[in-house]
Amino acid sequence: MFSNKVVLVTGASSGIGAETAQQFSKLDALLVLTGRNKENLKNVADRCQEISPQKLQPFIVIADMNKESDIENIIKLTLEKYNKLDVLVNNAGVLESGTIETTSLAQYDRVINTNVRGPYYLTMLATHAHRRREHPPGINHNRNKVTKKKPEASQSISTDSSHSTSCITRKLVVLLQFFH
Ligand SMILES: NC(=O)c1ccc[n+]([C@@H]2O[C@H](COP(=O)([O-])OP(=O)(O)OC[C@H]3O[C@@H](n4cnc5c(N)ncnc54)[C@H](OP(=O)(O)O)[C@@H]3O)[C@@H](O)[C@H]2O)c1
Repeated sequence: MFSNKVVLVTGASSGIGAETAQQFSKLDALLVLTGRNKENLKNVADRCQEISPQKLQPFIVIADMNKESDIENIIKLTLEKYNKLDVLVNNAGVLESGTIETTSLAQYDRVINTNVRGPYYLTMLATHAHRRREHPPGINHNRNKVTKKKPEASQSISTDSSHSTSCITRKLVVLLQFFH
């Protein structure tokens, strides 16, 4: 189903992102894996290649989601390598515990920049690339968490970030309807 589809997974160096990458590998996707930890990314890429039916080697881009130039590089290198992007999995993120009474603005900036601002910019650039295609396919903007209706008081900032990205995703769905 994902043969010849270019799938970009951010935060692929561990956890949910690494597992997501492997699942797409089994489906023969052409993968772009991003994160900051080169060694971990290389290990995940090797595992992906092993389980890919065509032994496809994922393309690795080292990038910090807090750095605009790194985010621009993800899209630039992906398009240079594959000339398209079909699926974007915005998974990279950080979790900070604490309630609104116990968290700091430094924690807030860390979570919002990594979990919302970075993915927002990456999605913006991916959408531009998508719009330039003559026959654009569907592009998915996935958030790492299905947001619960009842916010978690003990993970105050992370809950805010999840709700923000859900909102971005819903708006994108509406926007993309006009592309087709
Ligand atoms: N596990 C859960 O039950 C759960 C539940 C709800 C939501 N989430 C959220 O889902 C996401 C993934 O969770 P996980 O458990 O898989 O966490 P994880 O194992 O800590 O993985 C986080 C990933 O995000 C990347 N990352 C973090 N900061 C980054 C940055 N500034 N720039 C680029 N990449 C960055 C990390 O890569 P590098 O370190 O290589 O940069 C890593 O690959 C997180 O946002 C987490 O808050 C997790």
